[in-house]
Amino acid sequence: MLYIKKIISEKIEEKVRSAYPEAEIGADTIEQMLEYPPDAKMGDLALPCFKLSKTLRNAPPRIAAAIADGFDCPCVERAEALNGYFNLYLDGNYMARKVLLEISEKKEKYGAPSLGDGKVVVLDYSSPNVAKPFHIGHLGTTVIGHSLKRLHEFAGYKCVGINYLGDWGTQFGKLIVAYRMWGNKELIEEGGIDKLVELYVKFHAEAEKDASLNDKAREEFHKLEQGDEENIALWQWFVEISLAEYQKTYKQLGIEFDSYKGESFYTDKMPAQVQKLRDMGLMKIDDGASIVDLEEYGMPPCLILKRDGSTLYPTRDIAAAVYRKETYGFDKAIYVTSAGQSLHFKQWFKVVELMGYDWYDKLVHVPYGTVSINGEKLATRTGNVILLKDLFALAIEKVSAIINEKNPDLPNREETAEAVGIGAVVFYYLSGSRMKDINFLMEDALSFDGNTGPYVQYTYARACSVLEKGGEPDASMEFTVTADEEKELVKALSTFEEKVLEAIDTYEPSVIIRYILDVASAFNRFYHNCTILGVDDEKIRNTRLMLASATKTVLGNAFGLVCMKKTEKI
Ligand code: ARG
Repeated sequence: MLYIKKIISEKIEEKVRSAYPEAEIGADTIEQMLEYPPDAKMGDLALPCFKLSKTLRNAPPRIAAAIADGFDCPCVERAEALNGYFNLYLDGNYMARKVLLEISEKKEKYGAPSLGDGKVVVLDYSSPNVAKPFHIGHLGTTVIGHSLKRLHEFAGYKCVGINYLGDWGTQFGKLIVAYRMWGNKELIEEGGIDKLVELYVKFHAEAEKDASLNDKAREEFHKLEQGDEENIALWQWFVEISLAEYQKTYKQLGIEFDSYKGESFYTDKMPAQVQKLRDMGLMKIDDGASIVDLEEYGMPPCLILKRDGSTLYPTRDIAAAVYRKETYGFDKAIYVTSAGQSLHFKQWFKVVELMGYDWYDKLVHVPYGTVSINGEKLATRTGNVILLKDLFALAIEKVSAIINEKNPDLPNREETAEAVGIGAVVFYYLSGSRMKDINFLMEDALSFDGNTGPYVQYTYARACSVLEKGGEPDASMEFTVTADEEKELVKALSTFEEKVLEAIDTYEPSVIIRYILDVASAFNRFYHNCTILGVDDEKIRNTRLMLASATKTVLGNAFGLVCMKKTEKI
């Protein structure tokens, strides 16, 4: 639609120039003002002329009338001035030719804006804490983060996905103590991360009774920091075991990271930044700790060093940002975490600015709301949490049951159940705007009717099946659009690029989810109201197959942007 908007805006500009010779208004400005009316009865595009009344010093109805007078543009079937709006009814055949051909030519590139132009974006997301459960609270950072990566890649950015593993800290001292006291190598090798979490939970329970365990843990962590060989070996093993488990989940989601440099990697990179803060006189001592005072900026102080000189979360983030700037030369660094960490990011972004790094304004924090399941809030400390892998397993199991019942002969049943089950969770999760808290209702997420993942994947499969039966359409044939449903589908398909731009601009994968729903419902209306394969007229049949093929391409491209797999058959 961007192309159509552009030529229409140029025509409108011409009209405005001749009616208001002194006015200075460009086609670009007009393009920004164009709107999609809520109802196709009011046109396919409209210009609300009150937006021009100040510049043109004229009343909206007059402006609309002046533009409408003798308006002529090949893509427009009819145009009218109504209540201060200039309404445009687009020509269905023109649009179909333009949009369907573009989709069939660009294929997996259709809808991709050229925004990034080789610029580098670094994305820090998922980043679980090793040996602590990978739970449903991590779903947000994982899927929002990866969607933002896909969106930026699609727009031509060079993206670096970083999993900033929480692989350092006093929890390893605890784990080492717990392992030596109660651990069992074979059991852990078999049971993986769950066994580590059990040890961690047991440590906390025992330390309640015997506080000396905490001192022991501190000691072991200190030894680890000093490079004690045995402790280092244990630590590496804990990290490996955890990573193997995360990777299973990432694989299910189709996620790969470009870097797994976790917190431990930055240990030797912090002193230089601490020294710089000291040299610049930015640090002051407060009750023995080193802080950067941010009162002037309306924030509590940013903690750099504890009383015992050990580093803190912000210290590490500052060092990591400097390293990433030097290594990747990013044009934008995105961090996706729960909104609970917003202050942390505001604080250290400010410190980076005060340190004189001129790229401070390239740092972006993307927060998101909380998740509860069936109304229950999640506790993290107690070990009583819903693990991501369990949630996925449950979704897959339920979808399998549905498939077994409805389509027992489906080939690749397992693969499909996995794609649909996980797709359902992701789709449901990403449906609302990211800051909204979510209450996860499994039944709703998995339903095949309603605005769900299974519904849109089913729609995709339906388009595939039409094409399988009807054969690939001939793009060189003349198109003919005869039904409203066809025109509406073309319109829906045409706005993909605009939605991608909006999603990137607002860091909102939900924009793509809503778009997928729009396309799916337009396709299903078309599918139910227009005969496709049984039509005699060759041109109509071919146009309809082109529509099915275009829908397949656009849905497929959009799925890829929100961590959903394509399912040719369900
Ligand atoms: N590991 C942290 C957590 O689970 C998230 C890390 C986010 N990224 C960052 N650069 N601070 O809370």
